[in-house]
Parts: sequence; structure tokens; C-alpha cells
Amino acid sequence: MTTTYDVVVIGAGPAGYVAAIRCAQLGLKIVCIDEWTNHKGESSLGGTCLNVGCIPSKALLESSHLYQQANADFEQHGISVSSLDINIETMQARKSQVVDDLTQGIQALFKANNVELIHGRAKITATDTIEISDRKTRKKINEIKAKNIIIATGSSPVRLQQAMLVDDYIIDSAGALELNAVPGRLGIVGAGAIGLELGSVWSRLGSQVVLLEAMHDFLPAADRKLSNLVKRSLVKQSLDIRLNARLVSAKVKNKKVHVIYEDKKGEQKEVFDKLIIAVGRKPNTDRIFGEELGIEKDERCFILVDDSCQTSVPGIYAIGDIVRGPMLAHKGSEEGMMVAEHIAGQHAEINYDLIPSVIYTHPELAWVGKSEDECKSAGIKYKTGSFPLVASGRARAMAETEGLVKIIADAETDRVLGVHIFSAQASELIAQAVLMMEMQATSEDMALTVFAHPTLSEAVHEAALSVHGRAIHIKN
Ligand code: FAD
Ligand code: NAI
Repeated sequence: MTTTYDVVVIGAGPAGYVAAIRCAQLGLKIVCIDEWTNHKGESSLGGTCLNVGCIPSKALLESSHLYQQANADFEQHGISVSSLDINIETMQARKSQVVDDLTQGIQALFKANNVELIHGRAKITATDTIEISDRKTRKKINEIKAKNIIIATGSSPVRLQQAMLVDDYIIDSAGALELNAVPGRLGIVGAGAIGLELGSVWSRLGSQVVLLEAMHDFLPAADRKLSNLVKRSLVKQSLDIRLNARLVSAKVKNKKVHVIYEDKKGEQKEVFDKLIIAVGRKPNTDRIFGEELGIEKDERCFILVDDSCQTSVPGIYAIGDIVRGPMLAHKGSEEGMMVAEHIAGQHAEINYDLIPSVIYTHPELAWVGKSEDECKSAGIKYKTGSFPLVASGRARAMAETEGLVKIIADAETDRVLGVHIFSAQASELIAQAVLMMEMQATSEDMALTVFAHPTLSEAVHEAALSVHGRAIHIKN
């Protein structure tokens, strides 16, 4: 007999697994179907984020940062390291262990919350029916019925016709997380989030990294002042960032990757040991349902949804990387919770204007809300305040004096419109700005709040004071 569930979630990435757990908490009969299979051939939950995204990249960023500190920064603390070495195998094993622990943690959470799990590939065959097949053999293994369906199938790397993947040489982000030796010369196509983070990892470990970026602007979504600071910092860290660089071709010859690209001066040639393609991701929306179901997509294949993430078919929802908005784990997770609550008859909504962004370089870049350019093009009158980390006592004690905090506030109401942080631990510091903005704080509210001393957070306080020309530890 075919089982009927209140909710079927397709995909156990940060959007899907969070939706499934929240549905279970709300007393709904739930099953989650996920096809991810790890190198041992086992189901591995957590999607891109846990398996080949956020978590393994941060594990390698941490290891490489420690190595770089030992190499270059310990000396100023009076710590000498007589011989320093890095064992890439051990570094990668630690990363894999972190991934295994966390993916198994999701399995345990599913068990604890009574979320049923089916390992396999799902296809919606009717608005209330899901067929499940074996990922490898494609053989049908099950069919289930659902009152509601949540599609959370995530995204995959965009491929370039002129640089098709070649094992061990032309690789995507997943391949770049698995390298078992430090490449001598590493080319990266795309200086976005992945290019900068993985470029940082391998550059810190000794690769000569060249980033080929098609656009004229560097990190255009960030505030221009801070993106300029990030670029300068990364160049100082030996990352060779070439803007206006359009890839023409990449071919493997004699165990090297031969790249041709065009820039303002014309055709250029480069030879690399490895080439990472990191030019964005596309939604996984083909093969999940047929056109006859009437689930509408836009011209880039993102599923069209309303404010509650409901598709054009009532009872079918879509969340995470497959719908509009930034392709970020925390955005997908929030959508998962919102949809679960919506299905359970509760009211829930997301403030899409306040989703924080972080690029995990060192220092880190984090921001929330509007940039100056966005304020200008929206015709908003604004004022700004900023505070350099070099004037922070804690930053000096930590030897982390590079960076700046900038706050943008409405010129009339003083409401905080944007907070931009380039500093050590910016990924942590930004949370206080998100919270304050969620509470509709003014920059004066931030200025009147007491911050512990000595902390990096005081730089946020001082930037708020500076909006009013009364920062204490810099000349206003
Ligand atoms: P996914 O995580 O992609 O999960 C989708 C799941 O659905 C997968 O398990 C997949 O196997 C399964 N699936 C697909 N089709 C089917 C089917 N037909 N049947 C069954 N199962 C199916 N974001 C951040 O916020 N912070 C970061 O630091 C960050 N770092 C990143 C680093 C890298 C290298 C990469 C690649 C991405 C990073 N991201 C980061 C982005 C983040 O990983 C994604 O935004 C997030 O994983 C999207 O979540 P999701 O649940 O929508 O999809
Ligand atoms: P991205 O969109 O961040 O950057 C891709 C870059 O490649 C862009 O700058 C684009 O101009 C450039 N590009 C595109 N085509 C090109 C070409 N032919 N030649 C040269 N450059 C080209 O995408 P990325 O880095 O692949 O990451 C995918 C997504 O994953 C991000 O959008 C982000 O949502 C998520 N992510 C988030 C992270 C974080 O939150 N810290 C870290 C890593 C990924």
C-alpha cells in the first residue's frame, strides 16, 4: 500500500533537512528523500553545504590559516618555529572527519525527531505523488503520496564549454576541496566567493594563485570601499587577481593546463598545474518534475515562488538554492522553517533585505543591508560612519589591525541601512548588526549600547558613534 505523508521533502541540504526537522517538530508526518552518496557509497545528509561546500571549505580555510600564522605571524609573538611542515593528507583527513561527524549528526537529528529518510532519487510524477528510484541503476524503488511537497534539490556548479572538466587538472569546487598536494601554479576562473576562499586556502599553503575574473568590478555586491580594501589585502597576500579576463580556452597538454584568455590588451596565455572553474552555480531543477505539472520556472531555471515559497501549484513548495535570492545555506534554512510553519497553519515570513553575506578570506568580509551605491541608486539620502581596526585595542592585542567597519544610516530617520565589516571574525561580528537592523535600530541606538572592552565589537560601536561625529578613538 502506498503511504501518504503530510509532507515529503526532496533534498536534505540545509534547506531540506531544516524543513524536515521543523515539520516533525510541528507534528507533521514527514519523509525526506535524498540521493547524496559519499565515497563509501553511503547516504550522506547535509547536501552541498556539509559535503562539498560551507563546511569542508571552512575546515581547509582554518588549517591553512593556522599554517600561515605559524609561518609568518608567530614570530612577532616571540614564538619561533624551527621547522614547519604541512601534511596535506592529515589536513584532508581532518576535513573529512569534520564532514562525516556533521553529516552523521543530521542522521541522528532525523532519528531523534522521527523524520523518515529514504536514500534515492525523487521525481514528482503527479501533484501528490513522488516516485523514488535508485540513483545508479535508475530502477524504481518506491512510490509515495504527499499532501504537501517541499522541493529542496539545491544547485550544481556552472560548467564552461571552453573549459570542460578533466580529472585532476580542470576541476570544480568539489575537486578543489580534495587536492592531495599543493599545486605549484593554480589558476582559478571566477573571483567570486568560491574563487577567493579556495584561492586563499591553496595560496596560504604555497600555490601561486592566479584568478581570472570576467567582470570589471571586484566583488560588485559588496560596498565598493570595502571590496577595494579586500582586493588590496588579497594582492598583498600574493593572490594575482586579473579583472576583465575572459576565458577563451583551457586544454590539458603534457600534464599542464594551457589557458588562453582575453583582457583589454588582447589574447593572453598561461600555464597552470591545476585550473579550478568557479563561475557560479545553477539550480538543480531538471529531472525533478515534468512540465505537465505546471510548476513554473524563470528563464534561468529557478522555480518561481511567492513570499511563502509556494510554487505555482498549491501544496508544492520550493526552497534554498533553487529559488530567487542569494545561494546561501542560512537563507535556505530560514525558508525551510518558514515553509514548515506555513504548512502547519502558522504565520511565518523572512526579511530578505537582511540576509548577511560573508566571504571567508582573511580578514573576513561581511555585510548586511544596503551598500552606498545601492543607497545612491535608490535615491536614499544617507550618512556614514566608519572605524578602522587599527584603532581598536583588542585588534592590536590580537595583531589583527587590518580592516574597517562602516555603517550607513538614513540621513533623516537615522535607521541603520547597511553594515559592512572587513576584519578578523567579521562573520561573527555581523550578527549583532543583523539583530540590530532586524529590530529597526538607529545608529544612535547602536551608539548608546554598551559593548564589552576590549573586543572587536567595539569597532562596530565606534563606527556607530562616528555616524554622529563622536567616535572616541579616532579623529572624527
Ligand atoms: P543543497 O545543499 O545543494 O542540497 C540539495 C540536496 O538535494 C543534495 O543532497 C542533493 O543530493 C539532493 N537532491 C537533488 N536532487 C535530488 C533528487 N531528485 N532526489 C533526491 N535528492 C536530490 N553558503 C553559505 O551560506 N556559507 C558558506 O560559507 C558557503 N560556502 C560554500 C562553499 C562552497 C565550496 C560551495 C560549493 C557552496 C558554499 N555555500 C555556502 C553555498 C551553500 O552550500 C548552498 O547555498 C546550500 O548548500 C544550498 O542548500 P540547499 O539545501 O538549497 O541545496
Ligand atoms: P559567484 O557568483 O560568487 O562568483 C562567480 C564569479 O565568476 C563572478 O565574479 C563572475 O563574474 C565570474 N565569472 C563568470 N563567468 C566567468 C568566465 N567565463 N570567466 C571568468 N569569470 C567568470 O559564484 P561561485 O564563486 O562559483 O560561488 C557560487 C555560489 O556559492 C555563490 O554565489 C555563493 O552564493 C555560494 N558560496 C557562498 C560562500 C559564502 O557564503 N562564504 C562561499 C562559497 C560559495
